[in-house]
Amino acid sequence: MSTARPHTGTGIRLNAPAPGWAITADVVVVGSGVAGLTAALRCAAAGLATVVVTKARLDDGSTRWAQGGIAAALGDGDTPEQHLDDTLVAGAGLCDEEAVRALVTEGPGAVRRLIDTGARFDTSESGDIALTREGGHHRRRIAHAGGDATGVEISRALVEAARDAGLRTIENALVLDLLTDADGRTAGVTLHVMGEGQHDGVGAVHAPAVVLATGGMGQVFSATTNPAVSTGDGVALALRAGAEVSDLEFVQFHPTVLFLGTDSEGQQPLVSEAVRGEGAHLVDASGTRFMLGQHELAELAPRDIVAKAIMRRMREQGADHMYLDARHFGARMWEQRFPTILAACRAHGMDPVTEPVPVAPAAHYASGGVRTDLRGRTTVPGLWACGEVACTGVHGANRLASNSLLEGLVFAERIAADITSAVRPGSAAAPGSAVPPADTAGTLLPLIDPAVRADIQRIMSHGAGVLRSAASLTEAAAALEAVHRKAADGGPDGGRTKPAEPGVESWETSNLLCVARVLTAAALAREETRGCHWREDHPDRDDAAFHHHLVVRIAPDRSLLVTRTESTAFPPTALREQ
Ligand code: SIN
Repeated sequence: MSTARPHTGTGIRLNAPAPGWAITADVVVVGSGVAGLTAALRCAAAGLATVVVTKARLDDGSTRWAQGGIAAALGDGDTPEQHLDDTLVAGAGLCDEEAVRALVTEGPGAVRRLIDTGARFDTSESGDIALTREGGHHRRRIAHAGGDATGVEISRALVEAARDAGLRTIENALVLDLLTDADGRTAGVTLHVMGEGQHDGVGAVHAPAVVLATGGMGQVFSATTNPAVSTGDGVALALRAGAEVSDLEFVQFHPTVLFLGTDSEGQQPLVSEAVRGEGAHLVDASGTRFMLGQHELAELAPRDIVAKAIMRRMREQGADHMYLDARHFGARMWEQRFPTILAACRAHGMDPVTEPVPVAPAAHYASGGVRTDLRGRTTVPGLWACGEVACTGVHGANRLASNSLLEGLVFAERIAADITSAVRPGSAAAPGSAVPPADTAGTLLPLIDPAVRADIQRIMSHGAGVLRSAASLTEAAAALEAVHRKAADGGPDGGRTKPAEPGVESWETSNLLCVARVLTAAALAREETRGCHWREDHPDRDDAAFHHHLVVRIAPDRSLLVTRTESTAFPPTALREQ
């Protein structure tokens, strides 16, 4: 029987029943976007028994929503060095240059390997990959597919490859907590599966290597481009497991999200930067282009600059949105180049062929996440992270457009190489016939009533959104604390009614509350404006005081500990012999 226990580095874990079933693998990959499936396919190809655990269906994560594409120095005259320069500028002084160098030099090869896996990118008449531009790029270097359906195609290719490879997958599975062995090292994960036959309810995958590729946390805000599954589960699990997270205050707000009204909540339709890359203009209600003169790249300035310019114009004019004008594309170009966006606009009663469409910034991407080194190792031995859940140091204070799919690919390959050299096939402890008992020594988090999810989102959008200040963040922190306290006291009304039940919605809400609290603490501590972190009370970048990363972890007394570091990379964690 295994000695694995569902306890974590901090002793804190979600309030879930003990696992009722268990399976064994060499590697468990949590998440099935570009990062997760790439890591899993490479590990499996190297002979490691690999299991992919994913929250919904295999193609339901953020990857399939990516419109613009994947950036890599693939075009004539472009070089990794130029891609590096653009990435460093967007990152506003906080990129880890070594990580960016790995991204841009390994990127073109990783994209070619993705093509070998089956992904089909749009080509020009000459048959070369057609490349477009997006904000912050001085070159045409964004490969796209199906016009504006890049993520759908990448997801299709990887899911098909996973099926062809016979990769073992568990769908509709919410990961709960990290399992550790008697020596405190990673031994797998606990998870909750809904309706998957023999594996149903809470169970465990025992494995000496766990890769987090759970995607983002956009659902912590009221309006986001992220799908419903993006509830920060990976970051919250990692924190409970004792890992460090970094740069969480740097939430990227995409400048051009279709504006559906101030009350519109949840996932909102994205209007890709590629639309501006092809020449669309941002205008106010009077039709005036307001990006001219603000930046040499005008509408193609880095994303934070465009988002701030939109917010400023909205504030000056008392408007709740601006407009994107691409009528000059004509119907044919809209239909061929941007079919997804055209359909989304028309579904909401707007026609970009004949009218400027309303847009406003919305939460889009977490530039920070679980802190990793260049091999994707987190600060917890045996736990790796890649994709949006990770903070590799590539994005700094602001991700360059279309660098995220590339980061997922490159760092997933690096992780697979590292795991392959560190894990011996068949080295997981067998689960045996009995399942491990629940650890009672730790602290079970209070069950959170899923009804407070909307409150958390409103608190975050109001206090920790595009515009932040000490006052707004302090108010948000206090409101989040109150939500936590009420849950700890036995429910939204202090225990007078039945407390929340254990279940997916409550665990997700718990994860959202956790990442909201950490994000707010980091945003409060960073008293400057940099990249996508905009403090109204500290409007300037302050290199003397803040040219460093903020690292957060849960301290032994269970409080949040915020520390500073020059680099996101850290001294390599010694991976013990497997
Ligand atoms: C977009 O198409 O504008 C989004 C691309 C990205 O977030 O990198």
